[in-house]
Amino acid sequence: MAKTALVTGAGRGIGRAVAARLVADGWRVLAADLEPGTGGEDLYPVRADAGDEADVARLAQEAEDRFGGLDLVVCNAGIMVRKPVTELAFDEWRRVVDTNLTALYLAGRHLAPLLRRRKGSLVAVASTRAHMSEPDTEAYAATKGGIVALTHALAVSLGPDVRVNCISPGWIHTSDEPLSVADHRQHPAGRVGRPDDVAEMISFLADERKAGFVTGAEFVVDGGMTRKMIYV
Ligand SMILES: NC(=O)c1ccc[n+]([C@@H]2O[C@H](COP(=O)([O-])OP(=O)(O)OC[C@H]3O[C@@H](n4cnc5c(N)ncnc54)[C@H](O)[C@@H]3O)[C@@H](O)[C@H]2O)c1
Repeated sequence: MAKTALVTGAGRGIGRAVAARLVADGWRVLAADLEPGTGGEDLYPVRADAGDEADVARLAQEAEDRFGGLDLVVCNAGIMVRKPVTELAFDEWRRVVDTNLTALYLAGRHLAPLLRRRKGSLVAVASTRAHMSEPDTEAYAATKGGIVALTHALAVSLGPDVRVNCISPGWIHTSDEPLSVADHRQHPAGRVGRPDDVAEMISFLADERKAGFVTGAEFVVDGGMTRKMIYV
């Protein structure tokens, strides 16, 4: 029987590429988003707010009804509000925290029971901004650091039934905006990242035969940028 996955933020960008990769790997995928895209064979779009408890509980029910359970949850939905902290409204802070970090707690609360039954796994998308910052990104950085910590906490609590890992992407190009030669060259890997670079890692982590001994870990997929010393 085909394995089943739920991917949040699957309407565009990295989440869309992850959902497509999983379908190509033979999975059936529930693609949740505030603005769900079009479906396809084995790809089922559903409108849901990943940071809202009622919506996540509804996603658990939808996965039960449609698939009879879940083998994988990818907590990918994420937003950034870039503003000086002195101007960052409390509501804006809370919206970023709910979408990026509380969503992973809600997955633990409402989706982990399904994963436990199938000995499945959970993958969260953090960011290299968990470890380094540009100005005016406090809410985003805090949530991404929180995801890295919540990943090992969940791995310890949900093991040995459920493996829990996170990925910290660097610059992943998700729009049609042109990139410069310098954009690519500054990366030790020689190029800016692509959504498929993240999807490839998630495909690996989701495969019990390949990643069965991997849990509680953070995987940096950034073309080497966080290892590069800059004095300019
Ligand atoms: N693109 C990058 O360079 C990069 C780097 C590091 C980390 N990330 C992380 O990767 C993840 C995906 O980023 P992306 O660049 O593809 O973003 P994106 O903005 O291109 O797509 C995000 C998707 O999530 C959806 N979404 C937003 N809030 C939601 C919510 N509350 N519930 C459900 N869906 C919601 C949006 O509608 C959109 O379809 C995010 O967690 C982001 O922080 C991205």
